[in-house]
Amino acid sequence: MSSPSGTPPVSLAPHFTYEAGRLRVEGVALDELARTHGTPLFVYSQAAMLDALAAYQRGLAGRSHQICYAMKANSTLAILQTLARAGCGFDIVSGGELERALAAGADPTTIIFSGVGKTRAEMRRALDVGIGCFNVESRAELDVLDEVARGVGLRAPVSIRVNPNVDAKTHPYISTGLKGNKFGIAHEEVVATYRHAAACAGLRVVGIDCHIGSQITQADPYLDAMDRVLDLVQAIEAAGVPIQHIDFGGGLGIDYNGDTPPAADALWKRLLDKIDARGYGDRKIYLEPGRSLVGNAGVCITEVLYLKPGEQKNFLIVDAAMNDLPRPAMYQAFHQIVPLTPRPDTPTTWDVVGPVCESGDWLGRDRDLAVQAGDLLAVLSAGAYCMSMASNYNTRGRAAEVLVSGTTATPIRARESAMDQLRLENLLPPA
Ligand code: LLP
Repeated sequence: MSSPSGTPPVSLAPHFTYEAGRLRVEGVALDELARTHGTPLFVYSQAAMLDALAAYQRGLAGRSHQICYAMKANSTLAILQTLARAGCGFDIVSGGELERALAAGADPTTIIFSGVGKTRAEMRRALDVGIGCFNVESRAELDVLDEVARGVGLRAPVSIRVNPNVDAKTHPYISTGLKGNKFGIAHEEVVATYRHAAACAGLRVVGIDCHIGSQITQADPYLDAMDRVLDLVQAIEAAGVPIQHIDFGGGLGIDYNGDTPPAADALWKRLLDKIDARGYGDRKIYLEPGRSLVGNAGVCITEVLYLKPGEQKNFLIVDAAMNDLPRPAMYQAFHQIVPLTPRPDTPTTWDVVGPVCESGDWLGRDRDLAVQAGDLLAVLSAGAYCMSMASNYNTRGRAAEVLVSGTTATPIRARESAMDQLRLENLLPPA
C-alpha cells in the first residue's frame, strides 16, 4: 500500500510503487514507457505474474498437479511464454488459442480444451497435436468428439464438465455454475453421461471438470462445489468408471477495489484438506486460473486529452476507450485510475471517458483527480480481460504492450495501425 501525496489513498498491487513522485513497475518508471511507446499502452510486471503463479504452486506442492493458465484472460504470446516457462499448461477455448499456445512453446499434453461449442475442425486439430484433455460440456459434443476421434483412429482423452449448481456470488455474466447457465452437464445427468462416454470407442475418460464462475472472492462457493464434485466422483466410480484427475477450473478473484479474495495457497490448503478427508488425495489436480495470474500484473496507461467541465458532470476525456478496456462498459466493473506523476493540487471529481461515440464508453465514474491535459493516468488491474477483449470498434487500433522484468522493458506487441486493420478487406471492383 502506498499513496502519492495529494491524492486519496490507493492500494497498489505488488511490484507497483510510487517513488520520487513517479509510478513505477518493478524498476521502470511508467511515464518513461509512455514517452517511448505512446499511449494507450498496456504494461505488465513479469514478477507479479510469477509471484501469483508461485502461490498456486506452493498450495499444490507435493501433489500431482497441472496448472493450466486460462489464456482467455490475456493471450499475448510473451505472457504465455512467461507462464509456460514457469511450468504452466494452458486452458484453451478455441482453435485460435490452441495455435497461440503452440506458438508460445506449450507442451501439447499440458493443454486442456474447454468451451461449449468446439467445432469438428478444432477437435481434429487438437487431436492431431495431442492435447492433454477435452473438457466436454454436453452429450451432443461427446458424440461428435467420439465420431471425430474414431475418424482419425484415436481415442480422445475426456473430462466431463459438471454443473455443481452452486452460486459463486459474483456478477451474473461471469457466474457459470448455476442450473440456469449454459455450461456443464446437470448434476442428475452426470453418471449416465459418464457411462455413455466410457462405452464410446473414440473416447478415453480421464477426469472430471468444473468451473463455477469468475472473480470469486469467497472460499465457501469453492468448498461447496468441491463437496459436490467429490460426491459425483464417488457416484461415477461406483458406476464403474475410474476418474484419474479432478479439474477444479479457475475463478479466483483479485483485488480491484478493496476486494479480499482468499490467497491461492491458503484456499488450496483448505480444498486439499477436504479432498484428503474424503479419501481422494491420490487424484491429480488440474486448475484453470486466468484472472488471478495476470489481472493485477498489468496496467493501462492513457493520456488525458481534454478536460470538459460541465454543469452536472465533469468529463475527463482520455485516449483509452471501451475498445481497449471493455470491462467497465460490459460489467460496470471498477478499475482504480491513478496519475503517473501526481500533482499537489486539489482534486476535482471527474467521469473518466474515452473517445468512442457511445455514452457507455467510460472507464471510471466520479473519480477525484488533480489533472491537466497531457497528464498520464494508469488504469489499474488491467492485466486480465482487457487486451484479450479489446476490439477495433470505431476503427481504433489495439494498444501496444510492454512486459517489464526488473529494469528491462520489452515491447511484446506493437500498436495496431489503420493499415493492419484494413489488410483483410477487399474493395469492390471499379463501378
Ligand atoms: N475455466 C473456464 C472454463 C472458464 O470459463 C474461465 C473463465 C476460466 C477457467 C478462468 O476464470 P478466471 O480464473 O479468469 O476467473 N470477461 C470476464 C470474465 C469471463 C470469464 C470467463 N471464463 C471479466 O472481464 O470479468
